[in-house]
Amino acid sequence: MNTQKVIQKTKKKTIRFGVSMSPALLQEFDRLIKDMGYGNRSEAIRKLIREKLVQKEWELSANEIVATITMVYSHEVGELTERLTEIQHKYYKQIISTMHIHLDEHNCLEVLAVKGRASAVKSIADRLLSTRGIKHGQLTTTSTGKKLM
Ligand code: NI
Repeated sequence: MNTQKVIQKTKKKTIRFGVSMSPALLQEFDRLIKDMGYGNRSEAIRKLIREKLVQKEWELSANEIVATITMVYSHEVGELTERLTEIQHKYYKQIISTMHIHLDEHNCLEVLAVKGRASAVKSIADRLLSTRGIKHGQLTTTSTGKKLM
């Protein structure tokens, strides 16, 4: 669910919740929101949470990630193999490696290593995994490691 939908959904019903914090932190917060021109704490907290959600969403979609896309399918189904190959060629820049294993007479296991913007990787996986005839598919995302210690 994207941030806009979350905001729309929560508009329907307002939920009250308590927040615990030290008096010193609350005093700092009150000073901050007064400087920022908010009328009350609830208004300020809502705005700050929305900002954070939007920021997080943007960061996630813009980040470069690596992922594997795993697919199990029968190579005998219609033109499934051709369709999957066609999609993969379209994204040759992001798909850095593929492995194809013939599981038995009918079934194939294909594992793709993909690297690129999170939003691009997600849409590649969506296109492949929504192809009719895929028996099982999964996208597993991980970090490029650049930002990890
Ligand atoms: Ni095969």
